[in-house]
Amino acid sequence: MADKPAKLTVRGLRRLYEQGDPIVAITAYDALTARLVDEAGVHLILVGDSLGMTMLGFPNTLRVTLEASLHHTAAVVRGTRSALVIGDMPFLTFQVNDDEAVRNAGRYLQEAGADGVKLEGGRNVAGTVKRLVSTGIPVLGHIGILPQKVVGEGGYRVHGRTQQEADSLMDDALALQEAGAFAVVVEGVPRSLAERITGGLDIPTIGIGAGPACSGQVQVVQDILGLFEDFVPKHTKRYAHLADEIRRAVAQYREDVQTGTFPGDEQSFS
Ligand code: KIV
Repeated sequence: MADKPAKLTVRGLRRLYEQGDPIVAITAYDALTARLVDEAGVHLILVGDSLGMTMLGFPNTLRVTLEASLHHTAAVVRGTRSALVIGDMPFLTFQVNDDEAVRNAGRYLQEAGADGVKLEGGRNVAGTVKRLVSTGIPVLGHIGILPQKVVGEGGYRVHGRTQQEADSLMDDALALQEAGAFAVVVEGVPRSLAERITGGLDIPTIGIGAGPACSGQVQVVQDILGLFEDFVPKHTKRYAHLADEIRRAVAQYREDVQTGTFPGDEQSFS
C-alpha cells in the first residue's frame, strides 16, 4: 500500500483511487476525535450532518444549521494533520439557489479551513455542483439514501432495488461526475448496484451500506466505536464497545470519590 502523504489533497485522493487503494473515510465532529482518527490513518474525515443525531441529540439531520456545521468543521480541521476534511452542507444551505450555495460552501473553506464540501442529491444538484467546482470548491456528491429527505420520504429505505430506480441512480452518479464532483458517497443501495455505479464512473465511490465494491468506505465514528447503542445499523461493524468502557470508568470514579479513594497522594499537591 502507498505511503500516506503529510496532508492529503483531493489530487492525493485521486491518486489513491488510480492506484486501486481503498479510500478510508470516517465521520468526526470535534478536534480530539479528529486527532485520533487522523492518527489512525484514515484518508478522509467527513464532518457529517449526522452531527445532528450523534452530537446534538436531534432525531434526524434536518435541524443542523450552517453555523453549527461550520463550528464543528473548524474544530475537526484544528485536530487534523493529514486527512482531507470535508464539511457536510446542511438542509437548505445549498438548495435555495446557486449563489447562496456558493456563499455557504465557500465558508467551509474560508472560515472553517475545510478541504471541500459534501452535498446530497444527483441530477437535481448537478448544476449547483458545477458552480461550486468552477468557483474552486471541491465537492463530494451523495446519492442513494439521502437523510435530508427523511421527513419527505417518511423514513429510510434501501434505494435502487427496482430497475428504474437503479438506472436513475446511475444517471445521478454520472451527472455528478460530469459536474466535477471529486467522488460520490453511495448510501444504502444493493451491493450489485454499487458495483455497477463504481464500474461506470471514473471518480471514486465511497460506500456506506453499499457493499464491498465501492472505491472506499465511510462509517459514522460512534457506530463503529460502540458509542451509539440504540441499534446497530446493518451497514456497521462494531470495532469497540466504548459505551461500556465509559460507564465502567465513570462508575469507578464515582465509587472512588464516594469512598474517599480519589484523590490520593498521587493526585494531591503538597
Ligand atoms: O452525515 C453523515 O455522516 C453522512 C455519512 C453517513 C455519509 O452523510
